[in-house]
Amino acid sequence: MSLILDRSTITLAADHLRKGELVAFPTETVYGLGADANNDKALQKLYVSKGRPTNHPVIVHLASLEQMNDWCIELPDYARILARQFWPGPMTLIVKKAKHVSSMVTGGQDTVGLRVPAHPLALALLNAFGGGIAAPSANKYGRVSSTCAEHVAAEFGDEISIVIDGGSCPIGIESTIVDVTGPRPRILRPGIIPEQDIIEYSGLAQNTNISVGSSLADRVKNIRVPGSDKSHYAPSTPMLLLDKSAMRTFLANHNASTKSDQLTYAVLALSGCDQLLSTDQSSTLDSIKDNLPKVIRKYIQANIDPKIYARELYANLRKLDRLDANYILVEKTPESSDWLAISDRLRRAATHLHQ
Ligand code: TXA
Ligand code: MG
Repeated sequence: MSLILDRSTITLAADHLRKGELVAFPTETVYGLGADANNDKALQKLYVSKGRPTNHPVIVHLASLEQMNDWCIELPDYARILARQFWPGPMTLIVKKAKHVSSMVTGGQDTVGLRVPAHPLALALLNAFGGGIAAPSANKYGRVSSTCAEHVAAEFGDEISIVIDGGSCPIGIESTIVDVTGPRPRILRPGIIPEQDIIEYSGLAQNTNISVGSSLADRVKNIRVPGSDKSHYAPSTPMLLLDKSAMRTFLANHNASTKSDQLTYAVLALSGCDQLLSTDQSSTLDSIKDNLPKVIRKYIQANIDPKIYARELYANLRKLDRLDANYILVEKTPESSDWLAISDRLRRAATHLHQ
């Protein structure tokens, strides 16, 4: 596998796609693992490499809004307005598919997901290639998405020949997915573009059945979006999502335990360690940081700005996952709408002990 750094080698990557090979590339959200969307053999390779069931649809990436007409039929006016407003950008539209669109792309459904990404290297590749590039996030099925070329290399090694290295993805979580096949837009996966903006720009009043934060699984019962899977975006270390007081109690109990086979933890929290660990009154923050209890392998205090938290989320989870701790503990994020996409990812990444 070569990590491509030079923009001029985009032509080589486009040639690889034409030959039916896989190419990983950066987008502003996460890295994608791309294949020619019109080549079933290449799509087969994509599913095998990702380890994803073939009935799970992939997004087709396009160089421009104008190409949309080649891929869909019966596009409502409001969908075109949304595309004009948010493309290129972190939004995927689920539309009724044109006849030629392979069932390998759609997972056998009569709809297809389309996105014009904003990342300059993604656009350069799409322009050089000319056609649609089918690309799921560049991670093994169900696992943490990749937000830099090194993550892609760690996931796939020599299974894919080219990774276009665009550094870190500026958004860091996947696109907002909007179903535009009905009379109104429906959010199937929350992302950096909030539901409110989608509703507002579509010019249509919000369907009262759909409210921000309602269960994605309820909204998408018969559609195979990530929300319908039990585990997604998941590190291989079991991950527990706890609120601040549960985290405090949990760590206090476990730290006090003197068992020789003590469990170890890796922590991602919004609170500082002084707030989550029981300490004596005289301890300073620095002394706490320097003398973390042995059960805590690493403590990452995440940024309180949701945009920065999102950008760093998958890299943080990967860092914690490498430590061989028994559990990753993540402090729950706020309930407000600007954290919705993040809390959605954390909920799905968490280990559900009772399922
Ligand atoms: O930001 C993103 O969306 C990234 C970058 C690479 O574009 N892509 C991404 O792809 O997250 P993926 O495959 O990991 O997640 C996209 C989800 C799929 O899980 C799939 O369920 C849903 O989009 N999807 C694709 N086509 C669909 C369709 N026709 N109907 C319903 N859901 C669809
Ligand atoms: Mg994915």
